Amino acid sequence: MSLICLSDFEAYAKEHLPKATWDFITAGADDCFTRDDNILAYRRIRLRPRMLCDVSVIDTSTTVLGKEIAFPIGIAPTGLHCLAWPDGELSTSRASDAMNTCYIASSYSTSSAEEITAAAPNGLRWFQLYIFRNRKLSEQLVHRVEALDYKALVLTIDLPYTGKRRDDIRNNFRLPKYLTIKNFEGAFEGYDGPEEYGAPINTLDPSLSWKDIYWLKNLTRLPIIVKGVLTKEDAELAVEHGVQGIIVSNHGGRQLDGVPATIDALSEIVNAVQGRVEVYVDGGIRTGSDVLKALALGARCVFIGRPILWGLAYQGEEGVQKILQILHDEFRLSMALAGCKNISEINRNLVQFSKL
Ligand code: FNR
Repeated sequence: MSLICLSDFEAYAKEHLPKATWDFITAGADDCFTRDDNILAYRRIRLRPRMLCDVSVIDTSTTVLGKEIAFPIGIAPTGLHCLAWPDGELSTSRASDAMNTCYIASSYSTSSAEEITAAAPNGLRWFQLYIFRNRKLSEQLVHRVEALDYKALVLTIDLPYTGKRRDDIRNNFRLPKYLTIKNFEGAFEGYDGPEEYGAPINTLDPSLSWKDIYWLKNLTRLPIIVKGVLTKEDAELAVEHGVQGIIVSNHGGRQLDGVPATIDALSEIVNAVQGRVEVYVDGGIRTGSDVLKALALGARCVFIGRPILWGLAYQGEEGVQKILQILHDEFRLSMALAGCKNISEINRNLVQFSKL
C-alpha cells in the first residue's frame, strides 16, 4: 500500500490500532467542535500566490531559539508513544534527529527522558513539563532534563484539569500493565487509587498561576516556552514574565471545547507579541499548505501531534520519518507554487480569508 499524504496514515492507523488506543489518540473534548475546527479553519484560508519569482532553488531551513532545523515543522509533545509502536518515543527521537527537526518530548512519555536522549544524543530536543502538586518531583525532572541537554522547557498551561474526553471515559481507558510513565518511575510506588493516563489522578497542580513562571525560572537556566496560549492578554503576560517562546495551542481540541481553532487565534497573539518572543502554533496541521498559511500568519514553526502517532503506528521510526518527509515535501512545493524561495519571503500578503 502506498501512503502519500497524512490522511492515508490516519486511515492506516485507524484500521490497525486497537480501538481504545485509536480513540485515545483521536479524542477531543466534549463535542469535539474545537478539534474539528482546527482542521476546517485552514480550509477557510486562501492563498495569494506570486508568479515568476525564480523558484528553481527553495530553502526551507529556519531556526527555533537559535538552533537550525531543516524545515519549520516540529513534533508536538504527545504522551504514551509505546501504545502505537513497541519502542515508542525512541523511534520518534531517532526520526526527528534523522530529519533534522525539533522533538518536544512529553512528560507523560512511556520512555524516560534519559532513554529518549540516548536514542538520538545529537538530536534537538525540548522537554514538555506539567507542574505537579509534588513540586519536588517537578524540580527533579527539570534538573534531569537540563543535565540531558534538552534545549528548552515547554510548560503546558492549558491543563489544570483534564478535559472531558468521552471515548476515553466510555472505554475506561487505562495504560496497559506492561507500560508505565517512565519519567515517574518509583514516584508513585504503593499508590493504589484511581489513575488517569498512567498517573494517579490529581497529580497535576491546578493552583498554577503566572507567578509560578518565576518559580520555574529560578530553578533553571533553560529557556521557557509556554504552550496553550489563546489570547492576546495571556500572550502579553507571558512576555512580561520573561518566557522566550509561546505555542498557540488548544491541546488538539482536547481541553476546553468551544475555543477557537489555533490558526484563527494566531494573528491576535502575533500582533500582541510584536516579535519580542518566538510564536509557534500547533493543531490541525495536515498538509504543506497548512504550514505555509501558519507561517504567513506569523508562526515561526508549527508542531504536529496526532500525525506522529499515525506514523509510529505504521512503521515506527520509518513511519515518523515518512510523515515528516511528506509534510516537508508538500511545504517546499507550496512555497515554490506561491513564489517563495526561502522562509523570509513568506508573509501576511500570502493569505486571504474566505467565507466558505
Ligand atoms: C496531546 N497533547 C499533549 N500536550 C502536552 O503538552 N503534553 C502531552 O503529554 C500531550 N499529550 C497528547 C496526547 C495525544 C494523544 C494528543 C493527540 C495530544 C497535545 C499536543 O501537544 C498538541 O497540542 C496537539 O496534538 C496538536 O494538535 P494535532 O496536531 O494533534 O491536531
